[in-house]
Amino acid sequence: MTAQSPLVGVLMGSTSDWETMKRTRDTLARFGVPHECRVLSAHRTPAATIEYVAGAEERGLEVLIAAAGGAAHLAGVVAAHTLLPVLGVPMESASLKGLDSLLATVQMPGGIPVGTLAIGGPGATNAALLAVAILAGRRPELKERLRAFREEQTAKVLQASLE
Ligand code: RP5
Repeated sequence: MTAQSPLVGVLMGSTSDWETMKRTRDTLARFGVPHECRVLSAHRTPAATIEYVAGAEERGLEVLIAAAGGAAHLAGVVAAHTLLPVLGVPMESASLKGLDSLLATVQMPGGIPVGTLAIGGPGATNAALLAVAILAGRRPELKERLRAFREEQTAKVLQASLE
């Protein structure tokens, strides 16, 4: 990758989401994908969220990842303000274990899509992998890294010993 300006914007509704969303950061870093992580909330910082999203494409961002919990409107609000692909990660909530976040993120009305991943850690990892796959469409070196990652993963499973 030659570009150093961020290609992926990782947004989350609260600092309390960061422990989970570090997986997104770590996975993007593993693939050498330039990215930036920001706390922006659909509810607590609505104007700043819209301002960030409105300028995202012009700054060179190509994918936005939005993580939120509870009444998780962040990914939908982000998607409403950009033509970039938006991936939503429902955070695991204390009260409803993330089912609330999942439904709030996934149940978008037709017309404004949010690509919703699994609840919590697996979703955080997969959001990064899906972002990599999107970017790999016109970056052959990234596609090779993705292929190598899959092969390594397959080898690990096949080599696992059950003692
Ligand atoms: C959402 O509310 C955040 O994304 C977070 O998952 C949840 C709880 O936020 P805190 O009260 O921990 O800041 O907006």
